[in-house]
Amino acid sequence: MASRKNLVVDRTALAHKARYALTHPHRIPAHLRRAGRDRWLAFKYRDHVSYYRAVMASDTRRSPDAAVGSPTREAWLQLGQLQFDYLRTHGLRPGHRMLDIGCGNLRAGWRFIDYLEPGNYYGTDISPDVLIAAKRTLAEQGLQAKLPHLTLTQDLTFDFLPDAYFDVVHAHSVFSHSPLEVIEECLAHVGRVLAPGGFFDFTFDRTLGTEHHVLREDFYYRTETLTSLAHRHGLRARFMDDWELTGHGQSKIRVSAEPLPATTRPAAPEGTAAA
Ligand SMILES: C[S@@+](CC[C@H](N)C(=O)[O-])C[C@H]1O[C@@H](n2cnc3c(N)ncnc32)[C@H](O)[C@@H]1O
Repeated sequence: MASRKNLVVDRTALAHKARYALTHPHRIPAHLRRAGRDRWLAFKYRDHVSYYRAVMASDTRRSPDAAVGSPTREAWLQLGQLQFDYLRTHGLRPGHRMLDIGCGNLRAGWRFIDYLEPGNYYGTDISPDVLIAAKRTLAEQGLQAKLPHLTLTQDLTFDFLPDAYFDVVHAHSVFSHSPLEVIEECLAHVGRVLAPGGFFDFTFDRTLGTEHHVLREDFYYRTETLTSLAHRHGLRARFMDDWELTGHGQSKIRVSAEPLPATTRPAAPEGTAAA
């Protein structure tokens, strides 16, 4: 499937906004409502995590699936399957311990929980509302006996977690909503919790042009910005080319604290999936 990414546009440019408004007039009222709400929340909550938590509270009230980015249940199921299939063919094993940063309402998390041995899934999120929805997903899927850990967090220091513990750390569609200082905090600390041979996969919204953000909700980065940030914190970083073949709108980087073992090297992509 061809990628749907637009890698050069600057969404903050006036010309882009005017063109977009002309070609999508029906979206203008909803965008203005969202922009107004976000402006108020940004005024009320000055630090990014508190602001984004408030955005998630508002979005989750309407629909937890839409709050994590899936407009329909079908899309929610497909995107969870895509994340699961990719990780399973790129190193995840049932005995692994997994940390899923920004687990949302377990769109992919329930599949990881089902696959992993009991107690080996740790999901964290900054949003209490979405974690309540996550528990609902867990119950709906009948996965109580897997005893996953679901934890509310305020930062990405992982200070409550042990050294060298996780084989797999995962953050899907989290850095796409994060300013650079939040990403840096994560990269500064993730090496400590990675087990020997472990890796950290994250997605991000990629641009080849000017880095920018929209409403402090969606952030666009150049690959080199994130790989050099990882290097600065002593991590190896690799762009996952074959993730691009899935057709998902974001890109993916894998980082590790040491050379990646052969078992975690990307296999040939297994078909494609919806974004
Ligand atoms: C687009 S949703 C994706 C959820 C899940 N990873 C998935 O793919 O279904 C982003 C999630 O990340 C959470 N989040 C955003 N910033 C975070 C941060 N700094 N630390 C932990 N979670 C965060 C949000 O609350 C939200 O649940």
